[in-house]
Amino acid sequence: MFLWGTATASYQIEGAAAEDGRGTSIWDTFAHEPGRVRGGDTGDVACDHYHRWSEDVMLMADLGVNSYRFSISWPRIHPGGDREINQAGLDFYDRLVDALCAEGITPAATLFHWDLPQALEDDGGWLNRDTAHRLADYAHTVAGRLADRVPMWITLNEPFIHMVFGYALGTHAPGRTLFLDALPAAHHQLLGHGLAAQALRANGAGRVLVTNNCTPVWPASDSAEDARAAGAYDALHNRLFNDPVLLGTYPDLTAFGVPELAAVRDGDLEIIAQPLDGLGVNYYNPTRVAAPEADADTGGLPFTDAGITGYPTTAFGWPVVPDGLRELLTGLKARYGEALPPVYVTENGCSQADEPAPDGVVDDAERVAYLDGHITALRAAMAEGVDVRGYYVWSLLDNFEWAEGYGQRFGLVHVDFATQKRTPKTSYHWLRTMLAAERRRQ
Ligand code: NOJ
Repeated sequence: MFLWGTATASYQIEGAAAEDGRGTSIWDTFAHEPGRVRGGDTGDVACDHYHRWSEDVMLMADLGVNSYRFSISWPRIHPGGDREINQAGLDFYDRLVDALCAEGITPAATLFHWDLPQALEDDGGWLNRDTAHRLADYAHTVAGRLADRVPMWITLNEPFIHMVFGYALGTHAPGRTLFLDALPAAHHQLLGHGLAAQALRANGAGRVLVTNNCTPVWPASDSAEDARAAGAYDALHNRLFNDPVLLGTYPDLTAFGVPELAAVRDGDLEIIAQPLDGLGVNYYNPTRVAAPEADADTGGLPFTDAGITGYPTTAFGWPVVPDGLRELLTGLKARYGEALPPVYVTENGCSQADEPAPDGVVDDAERVAYLDGHITALRAAMAEGVDVRGYYVWSLLDNFEWAEGYGQRFGLVHVDFATQKRTPKTSYHWLRTMLAAERRRQ
């Protein structure tokens, strides 16, 4: 059965940051530092999902999705990052999973969606190889409790974005500005993926995936320089994370002047290349790159962002290019062939400045057009032979959009953060109708 779902992440929706024994995560620390998040917003309360989960499950049941991708808060389970277990944290996900199953909604759990226990960051975070082993311990704990009802597991969410924003540029937690010295955070996350995949399987997990943020890369011109820049960007953004899990190799970044991945030890790539039951792909937009000007300071990188014009944009300013999803999926198939497992689009969506009109209606017509266009592109990729098994809208609810705080609304459901009132938007009603038609077709 094709999985139609919505996606969320723990720090972005749960709130209850200090309840029931939850430990501190790097996002708690970061968001509470002045100047880090727009407007000083934090995830302390967020959508209060920790208390309102039952209402949120009913919103999904009424929407008619047959799957829900959520993430487990690592510091709720292992508050100190070590092996000590907080049972109350496990109990929360246990209740959530039972409620989903009761509504016929297949749970898909992400282990690491960026909220690392602060204690692990204090020991070096993803720059420390040991963190990979801690992820495996955590995988063992949660799968031991939930794998009897959670058939689908995603080890990591967007390790590229976490490395770049968290460790290279410092705009996300943990706020480090290491530029190219951030690269070990890529390798250690990937090693953690492989070790966690083993731990999940040992505890009866059915399907194991990793979710990568993937982007079609467009050279800014036909010149050989721009083509080379596009190749370099593709290697860093896409292949650095897809090649090792699918092929067991790293792309040669040194060919582009990027330092070698010194953190790799013998045997690591075999662990990273565990057989996968699916590749999770998050798609938002293509990226257009150019060769840097001779005197440009790019911090050693052989490309610059050339920007995309001529398309509508989201509230974030991201270009809306639905066919980029078809291009991406068919491109993955062309690149990896038989090595590409079934693909799940684990995130796709857009931010809009949505507010209720006086009559209470939240009319997000642009989001309807966005989803319609992207689902059409998804179907086109499938018609071209790509084995896609699921599509998840980011997001069920307006939520804490990282460094943008509550300023960027991605939800199918509007959240009034002062009252926690949920109001399904026009896109929710549109998707509900589409999903009902899908069910009749099956
Ligand atoms: C990808 C991330 O996984 C998610 O947490 C984020 O909110 C969306 N992109 C939108 O930026």
